Amino acid sequence: MPLSATSGRSSDKRGNAGSKRSFVFRCIGCGSIVSNAAQDYCCQHCGKLLEIADDSWKTADAAALKSLWRERRTTNATLDLSGVWRFRELLPLPETTADVITLREGNTPLYDLPFCSRITGVDRLYAKHQGMNPTGSFKDTGMTVAATFAHQAKCRWVACASTGNTSASMAAYAARGGLRSLVLVPEGKISWSKLSQALDYGALACQLRTDFDGCLRLLQDLVKEAPIYQLNSINPFRLEGQKTLAFELLEQLDWQPPDHIIVPGGNLGNSSAVGKGLLEMLALGLIPRLPKLSVIQAEGANALVRTLREGQGKQLISVQAETRATAIRIGNPVSWEKAVKVIQATGGTCEQVSEIGIAQAKAEIGAEGIGCEPASAVTLAGFKKLVHQKFVKKDESVVLILTGNLLKDPDFTMEFHRGDLFRDDKASAPLHHLRHPPVVLDATIKAVIQTLQQAEKSDRKPNA
Ligand code: F0G
Repeated sequence: MPLSATSGRSSDKRGNAGSKRSFVFRCIGCGSIVSNAAQDYCCQHCGKLLEIADDSWKTADAAALKSLWRERRTTNATLDLSGVWRFRELLPLPETTADVITLREGNTPLYDLPFCSRITGVDRLYAKHQGMNPTGSFKDTGMTVAATFAHQAKCRWVACASTGNTSASMAAYAARGGLRSLVLVPEGKISWSKLSQALDYGALACQLRTDFDGCLRLLQDLVKEAPIYQLNSINPFRLEGQKTLAFELLEQLDWQPPDHIIVPGGNLGNSSAVGKGLLEMLALGLIPRLPKLSVIQAEGANALVRTLREGQGKQLISVQAETRATAIRIGNPVSWEKAVKVIQATGGTCEQVSEIGIAQAKAEIGAEGIGCEPASAVTLAGFKKLVHQKFVKKDESVVLILTGNLLKDPDFTMEFHRGDLFRDDKASAPLHHLRHPPVVLDATIKAVIQTLQQAEKSDRKPNA
């Protein structure tokens, strides 16, 4: 028997004193409202995706929310320690907080990027590092909410198709909540460090002989036949958690919106979630205007870019995806319509970047002492293109969303520094000065001093 998800009614003791709050599923196409959703989270009338809506989110008192959320940062209550549940007035709530599965997700840093500012001439450039979440990626902010509702539904198994990070996150939250997890990943196409996380958290990991899109198709069919709770970002509870990134970011900026927010695009759940958060904040009066939300993809996985350029955003143009940024190696993004809506609503854009551009940007973010995984680095590579095109002006403020931790893909990093990532030496020449290959030496003081002296000499070379 397949499972279904049910909307909830819950009382919120702190935000809206004494009042009952409820949420519903709303179709993004025809606007139909339902209280029950099947595990494909599609509208039964028009087949488009469902989102979660709650009328009380439009009427809350913005000033009261800002001070309540700030006050919660000083308490040690379990829900307040989570950078997601701290914003629970704007989230679907389970019937009882005992169902909440949390690992203190969110609460991620906002860094300035002085080195990248110098390269691009944009002074007010920041990175919100979602790779500092408990399992090392932004997925945790959505997983805490979706896993909580899986727990409430008393399901035994949760499952996802993944390029790696979703599976690591899902497996962690499932383990924490006493659920079994089933992971479907494309064989040989995801980083070992992500797969190893899922194994450690006790997932049943299946490496399928297909790509991510094939894994997701299979999962969509599987949930129709078996009692499995689906935790991909097609599940709108995921996006509810992920939208808190926007709340936390704006709080960190004292509610002054930046001019631009730039996110990587794969299955396009995250861009949709951040956009939803921004639009809800504007409707509530938490912010006076919208930042432009732009999405960057790898050239080899550019379905959204093509959908907007060739299909005017009206129908999806799928691609056969290929990129070393394996997290976004996705050719048939399920949330494309939600992403198109928020890009258009905020006046943002969509751009694609080359493999060399991604590698260079990743090394530049490393040079800031921060680091990220390749899929996150598309934001810096895309931002540079947008500055060049004057879509981003030099006096504007920009936030890059770094989605995954540097440690997520050590193979990529090692190949980059050893000079093995690209065959074409000429094309990759702009990368040379960013490489720091390890050296093997005899264990003598003389050998180390000589190496230090050589490093000093090459540091002094002009343009080094
Ligand atoms: N960045 C990283 C590090 C990711 O892992 C992903 C997606 C994205 C960006 C793109 O986000 O899909 O919401 O547009 N990873 C998924 C996974 C697909 O299975 O881990 P999106």
